[in-house]
Amino acid sequence: MAAGRFDYESVFDEDYIYFMSERLGDTQSDADVALIDELFGKRPGDLLDLACGHGRIANRLARRGYRVTGLDSSRLLLDQAQADARAFDVSVEYVQGDMRDLHWTERFDYVVNWFGSFGYFDDQHNMLVLEQAARALRPGGTLAIEMPDYSSLLRHYQPASVIERDGDFLIDQNSFDPLTGRSTVQRTIIKGGQTRRAHFFVRLFTYVELKEWLTTAGFREVRGVDESGGPLTDGSRRMVVLARKQERPVSIPSRSSGTPSASRQGPNRQPGQRA
Ligand SMILES: C[S@@+](CC[C@H](N)C(=O)[O-])C[C@H]1O[C@@H](n2cnc3c(N)ncnc32)[C@H](O)[C@@H]1O
Repeated sequence: MAAGRFDYESVFDEDYIYFMSERLGDTQSDADVALIDELFGKRPGDLLDLACGHGRIANRLARRGYRVTGLDSSRLLLDQAQADARAFDVSVEYVQGDMRDLHWTERFDYVVNWFGSFGYFDDQHNMLVLEQAARALRPGGTLAIEMPDYSSLLRHYQPASVIERDGDFLIDQNSFDPLTGRSTVQRTIIKGGQTRRAHFFVRLFTYVELKEWLTTAGFREVRGVDESGGPLTDGSRRMVVLARKQERPVSIPSRSSGTPSASRQGPNRQPGQRA
């Protein structure tokens, strides 16, 4: 199947919420947020939910005391997120934007990018997303990316999958291109007697490859866990990759001149703890 373009607006719309409501319902969303909070040492801080979708994670993290900003390109999903924030009685700053073009510098203690929301572009722009996330984080801040585990996904690769809801169907025809590392999806939605099609792809990463990319983007202390926070193994279905942004080097005045002459890493501070 040809790589083609990514129909963002026709993939992430009201039908996405409709068909994913069971997969991404309360049980899964509560579990996702419990894992994120655990991985961040239960130390709420300033957090960016990058590609936040309809806010299922952002709103729940706000309920746990994180000061959350949610960024997504879809106005429709952001409106749903905002409506749910009101229902949750939480305050989240929702921003419409592009994850390749963030305007924050050292603003957040945490950035989360969850449920396969990384890898939507060519490799140059996928790397740009990591660089932008690094810039948005304070020194010592943590990025968490959650996505399918590459080896498991390929081992269980389904050429097609179907979700049915109340007589409506979402049908995905999948193909993997080893030359680009992309899984390409031709989506057919049959809803209310109408049929429409959309096309998208996602770049898959092994843990080792993503670790290299994160290091190139300026992160340190990269580690990977599975979907329950346990060790990443060849049986893991999904992976969470955590990476810390390097601490700001601390200048040490030299004894002789009193001027900065050397630098060292700052104290090892915990995620969420201000410098
Ligand atoms: C698979 S959904 C995941 C949403 C959310 N992270 C979750 O766990 O429910 C991917 C999201 O990426 C958003 N997205 C796609 N391209 C984007 C871009 N260039 N900038 C920001 N968000 C984008 C979509 O609108 C969609 O909400």
